[in-house]
Amino acid sequence: MPRFTPGGLDDAGWSTLLTGALVPRPIAWITTRSPSGVVNLAPFSFVTVAATAPPTLAVSIAHRNPVKDTLRNLRDTGEAVVHLVPASLAAAANASSAPYPPDTSEPAALGLDLGPMPPLAVPRLAAADIALACRLERILPIGAPSAHLVLLTVVAADIAGEVAGADGLPDAQRFRAWARLGGSAWLAPDTWRLVHMPRPRSIDASSETS
Ligand SMILES: Cc1cc2nc3c(=O)[nH]c(=O)nc-3n(C[C@H](O)[C@H](O)[C@H](O)COP(=O)(O)O)c2cc1C
Repeated sequence: MPRFTPGGLDDAGWSTLLTGALVPRPIAWITTRSPSGVVNLAPFSFVTVAATAPPTLAVSIAHRNPVKDTLRNLRDTGEAVVHLVPASLAAAANASSAPYPPDTSEPAALGLDLGPMPPLAVPRLAAADIALACRLERILPIGAPSAHLVLLTVVAADIAGEVAGADGLPDAQRFRAWARLGGSAWLAPDTWRLVHMPRPRSIDASSETS
């Protein structure tokens, strides 16, 4: 069996290997808010449950200069809402990954309704079946840094009745969300079929896919 060691692949190669191997990954569709009130929205598939007591999520945000709006807003305000991508909104989730400038609100640009998410000031996506209100616990730089691992404490969880069991908690028979596979592949929640959606590299390209 072929074996790869750190020197045998460049950064892009490791990205292709690891994102192709760790599949499927959930997609955290995250709203944050700048101190001046601009609501930001972006998808992140480097995400998992980090702990349950306290309930904690881990999200990895790749380094960019200037840093991604989500990381900057988390540093500035300490708040985020994590959603899972509902069946009808994959194109919008992909479009929200386009390089919108910091003063542009992706939900407004993409026509996505927002609603309150107390106790946070940052709003939630109205259409999401599950929304997790989170406060920043810690940011861990990784590498030079090449990424920042963000630990988020869940302080409130909204679960729609349609996707819940009798106990009000997510029911595997009823709740499905889009997931990410390797490359540009996504896993559709209705039949778990594979769908290719390349990432929009410009805002213009994002409006074509939404
Ligand atoms: C399905 C999907 C998953 C993504 N996952 C990540 C991720 O885990 N980490 C990351 O840094 N960027 C990820 N991205 C890219 C970000 O969404 C993109 O850089 C976005 O512009 C960041 O937005 P912001 O600057 O508003 O925070 C992903 C994009 C898509 C379409």
